[in-house]
Amino acid sequence: MNIKDYLEQKRIDVDRFLDQVSPPATTPPTTLHESMRYSLMAGGKRIRPILTIAAAEALGTTPPGLMAVACSLEFIHTYSLIHDDLPAMDNDDFRRGKPTNHKVYGDAMAILAGDALLTMAFDLCSRPDLMKGCDPVRQVRLIQELAYGSGNLGMVGGQVFDIQAENKDIDLATLQNIHKHKTGMLMRAAVRMGAIAAGATEPQLANLTGYAEDIGLAFQIADDVLNVTGTREELGKNPNTDAERGKKTYPTFYGVDGAKKLADECVDRAIARLSSFSPAADPLREIARYITSRKN
Ligand code: IPE
Ligand code: IPE
Ligand code: MG
Ligand code: MG
Repeated sequence: MNIKDYLEQKRIDVDRFLDQVSPPATTPPTTLHESMRYSLMAGGKRIRPILTIAAAEALGTTPPGLMAVACSLEFIHTYSLIHDDLPAMDNDDFRRGKPTNHKVYGDAMAILAGDALLTMAFDLCSRPDLMKGCDPVRQVRLIQELAYGSGNLGMVGGQVFDIQAENKDIDLATLQNIHKHKTGMLMRAAVRMGAIAAGATEPQLANLTGYAEDIGLAFQIADDVLNVTGTREELGKNPNTDAERGKKTYPTFYGVDGAKKLADECVDRAIARLSSFSPAADPLREIARYITSRKN
């Protein structure tokens, strides 16, 4: 299996679905819908929905509603990026190769576009037409996973830890906790939701959860490294922003090479978690490797 082709094909599938379920920019309130689409359809690797799909595939099925479940994570992720870039947070002006949402539509509309994307994520997982055939008990469990991974004990909690650590001399355990929540919890939800939709057994779910936690950490370490080594053209967002903002990151603690080595160790651990899975889990294995080799 060629992972580049796999990711590209899935990205096209995800983009098509996102386009179909997003309200047209001509539907009132038009500015809101335009602003939501601006960020949602701006590109992006779509790694979270692809993880959901690959986790279900690893269990040998394509369960009903899988695309809606997978894409709900991209709605949450895109909202988190819009809010993360706001002047009150990271104050960034470039994302996914374009000016940030608030630079184009203003702070108020960017906040509201984020709010609407967040809400729509739960709509996707609840819609009878999109979720037709999904067992209702399973569906509620999926919705709960999405809420848990996104909320106060998940991504939002991580953003709080992150902001509170700015310009502070934090220790490694604190940094790890930030990464675990701000990036890790949504990736954990992505993998678990794919597994739950596909009817994973408890041992399978435990292994896939371990896999997700390890790649989540590897993903954020790689993001920290790229913040130091990447260019604006490669990343589609400005580099060096962590240092400018007084943020301690993995490269601060270990240097770029040390951080890369740690990320590779996380990837090895993640792949080892899948030892009992068949070749159907190869995309998950390859995605783990891709996470540290990516250039954006
Ligand atoms: C960027 O996420 C923010 C982090 C949580 C590290 P991605 O690197 O997945 O960004 P897109 O979706 O491809 O733009
Ligand atoms: C973004 O983290 C994490 C979320 C949006 C939840 P960062 O602030 O470190 O990522 P970038 O560099 O803006 O993508
Ligand atoms: Mg941030
Ligand atoms: Mg940021």
